[in-house]
Amino acid sequence: MAPHSHSSAILLLLLFFYFSVSFAAPPSNEIAGGVRIWPLPVSVTHGGHHRLYVAKDFHLITQGSNFSDASRILEDGFSRLLDLVRVAHVVDANLSRFASSSLLHGIHIVVSSPSDELQYGVDESYRLSVPGPAPGKPAYAYLQARTVYGALHGLQTFSQLCSFNFESRVIEVRMVPWNIIDQPRFSYRGLLIDTSRHYQPLAVIKKVIDSMAYAKLNVLHWHIVDTQSFPLEMPSFPNLWFGAYSKQERYTIADATEIVRYAQRRGVSVLAEVDVPGHALSWGVGYPALWPSKDCQQPLDVSNEFTFQVIDGILSDFSKIFKYRFVHLGGDEVNTTCWTVTPHIKNWLRKKGMKESDAYKYFVLRAQKIALSHGYELVNWEETFNDFGSELSRKTVVHNWLGTGVAQKVVAAGLRCIVSNQDSWYLDHIDTSWEKFYANEPLQNIKNPRQQKLVIGGEVCMWGEVVDASNIEQTIWPRAAAAAERLWTQYDNLAKDPRQVFARLAHFRCLLNQRGIDAAPVSGLGRSDPWGPGSCFVQ
Ligand SMILES: *[C@@H]1O[C@H](CO)[C@@H](O)[C@H](O)[C@H]1NC(C)=O
Ligand SMILES: *[C@@H]1O[C@H](CO)[C@@H](O)[C@H](O)[C@H]1NC(C)=O
Ligand SMILES: *[C@@H]1O[C@H](CO)[C@@H](O)[C@H](O)[C@H]1NC(C)=O
Repeated sequence: MAPHSHSSAILLLLLFFYFSVSFAAPPSNEIAGGVRIWPLPVSVTHGGHHRLYVAKDFHLITQGSNFSDASRILEDGFSRLLDLVRVAHVVDANLSRFASSSLLHGIHIVVSSPSDELQYGVDESYRLSVPGPAPGKPAYAYLQARTVYGALHGLQTFSQLCSFNFESRVIEVRMVPWNIIDQPRFSYRGLLIDTSRHYQPLAVIKKVIDSMAYAKLNVLHWHIVDTQSFPLEMPSFPNLWFGAYSKQERYTIADATEIVRYAQRRGVSVLAEVDVPGHALSWGVGYPALWPSKDCQQPLDVSNEFTFQVIDGILSDFSKIFKYRFVHLGGDEVNTTCWTVTPHIKNWLRKKGMKESDAYKYFVLRAQKIALSHGYELVNWEETFNDFGSELSRKTVVHNWLGTGVAQKVVAAGLRCIVSNQDSWYLDHIDTSWEKFYANEPLQNIKNPRQQKLVIGGEVCMWGEVVDASNIEQTIWPRAAAAAERLWTQYDNLAKDPRQVFARLAHFRCLLNQRGIDAAPVSGLGRSDPWGPGSCFVQ
């Protein structure tokens, strides 16, 4: 027994030494001691100490693909990949010094589907492999995807395998060979931006879209108009944007079209919202008849046919720009006091035999019918479901926000649901930690697989009261990334305790910074300052 316990003691001592050394070691930004990909793929294998250097003429091959790339989505995605992996450092080595067998010459991408339509439920899966060095055979990464949008995700993952080697001063892929199989857990992975509480310039929206693609978020929910301002041009009712804060703080139809186009080329769909009948005061600046009265200005006048003509005009204009399957009709926080205190509406209610709650339902259901007539399926905030769920169109997706436990009821009623419970996924709640964002499970208490499928995903909400162009990025990131992993990564691969992923999330945050995104430190709450001097990788 004695020698045995003696060796155990040595082993313990060695273990102790090992751990104290590894904890004391300086943080490393290298892909070492673990896979640093964010969000984590379905499966990843990699090698040990072999590496390949990214060749100077690293190029794209698409031989064998059914995708013609007529609109150059893939080619542009590839060229952005090169910019991303080269953005952090100047590659000044003479790559001709290296043997051809130590170089990665390019990436071969094979896409099965000829279509470039981006729509809800599009196949986003991909398989990516990077070979080990093999003398006599030029090495190429190999990326296979059903659609070009899966291929774009694969390129994002590839960009995260690349790092700068400070000895050879080139970009390298370490730990080759890599084999990655990946697909998202949920089809809807959203981020809300709100351009009514503060105007967001076009360039800012584009940068937000860029950063969404880095984290594999795929829906920009554009809460365009609200009580405070109406910034978007609407050809059917050209006075609506009189409700903008100023002439400068507006979007033309061409601007909106450009946002949709820009997003689509990065695999991001745009879900447009008109929030009715509440949250619509600004509409009346251009058309005062939409207000119940001059002194009581919202919700929209339910008794006036003109109100529904305007909604029809807006949704008709929308249908020419926003091609996503869904439109968001709001329906939250409706305070019906103005309907009951305004004489002509009060009379109308009496004639129709309606209470205010009936009028609210009448309004929401009528708006739904108009949207359906323009070919949309519908999203409504959860109050509509809580108040008269059984009467909503079966094409409704209920957007949870008030609290937890709603998705469970929605899917039990056979409707679809998007999860955004405000206690965990509201980015404007600065006090909500990234750990809470990470731990928020959309399928909580939903065990039936048929009901699980009805939860189409989730969304983090960047309401605009306290964000403008100056701080929107650091309020979104890194917390949105925590939710992005929850929505992308298969349940079994998610960390049970968020603290286990701190190092990987910190690494992703620093990567965003390298790419020019103003992501705030991970430690601390929303958009907090760095807590003192120190490496990016521990803050
Ligand atoms: C790079 O290295 C190769 C091979 O060593 C050499 O022939 C070439 O002139 C070098 N190019 C530059 C720009 O230094
Ligand atoms: C291309 O399309 C053909 C016909 O649908 C199919 O047989 C083939 O497998 C596809 N190629 C790839 C790479 O998916
Ligand atoms: C509802 O609207 C009325 C009239 O505008 C207003 O006086 C009241 O404060 C509002 N109630 C709430 C709870 O916001």
